[in-house]
Amino acid sequence: MQVVILENPDAVAEYGSQIFINRLKSSPKSVLGLATGSTPVALYKKLIEACEAKEISFSDVTTFNLDEYLGLSGEHPQSYRYFMNEQLFNHVDVNTANTYVPPGSAENPVVACKEYEDLIKQNGGIDIQLLGIGRNGHIGFNEPSSGLMSRTRVKTLTKETIEDNARFFGPDEFQPHLSITMGIGTILDSRKVVLLATGENKADAVRDAIEGPLAASCPASALQLHQNAVFVVDEAAASKLSQCDFYKHIEQENQKLIQQLATL
Ligand code: PGA
Repeated sequence: MQVVILENPDAVAEYGSQIFINRLKSSPKSVLGLATGSTPVALYKKLIEACEAKEISFSDVTTFNLDEYLGLSGEHPQSYRYFMNEQLFNHVDVNTANTYVPPGSAENPVVACKEYEDLIKQNGGIDIQLLGIGRNGHIGFNEPSSGLMSRTRVKTLTKETIEDNARFFGPDEFQPHLSITMGIGTILDSRKVVLLATGENKADAVRDAIEGPLAASCPASALQLHQNAVFVVDEAAASKLSQCDFYKHIEQENQKLIQQLATL
């Protein structure tokens, strides 16, 4: 695992966006795994800017989102499809037919989950998966106790997640308690994983994911099994890591190596 500790949320968004920008420059046909939540918004802004500046194009890109509320159609303002349209898709040159979000209004969610898995495979798998992390260590809607090899399925949300997301719903608005989410096994199949975390309220989850045992109680700890996972975190989210200096040292050495290789 690569752990990159940066000064503030803007630096996290900048570092994360460069990973995607570099990928799209070298492989315009990439399959991207995308995430919702507050954390990725700044990264999406930077991708939009890069697209407007014609640095990158999404015209040949295919995207798969991690999760969706079960019971909300894509037109619902709190649906993750709606969020993605607003925060990214409507502002870049992506073909919306190539943007996939699990269908929250599927008649048969069990069949829809299997179809989502099949669709990812048919598209050759995910090249880079973007992740946030919940305060409870969830990735996607894989809540604590999720199977570490799970596939796309219906998941019940924890009380904590429902409370965290209540801010987006009106007081009398229906807030779903169920979701369709890629499984942890689905996420681990991605060729690269980029997890962003900012703020002190993520510090416990970040510590457990990086330094805790591999455990279903912290779903993000499953990334310890991944060959190409990078955690990009700000100082506040890193504040409970015991090996901060070591991670910073590794990152400096990595940067030196990259510079040396560039001169060859
Ligand atoms: P947040 O959500 O970015 O809104 O904190 C992250 C998550 O729950 O995965």
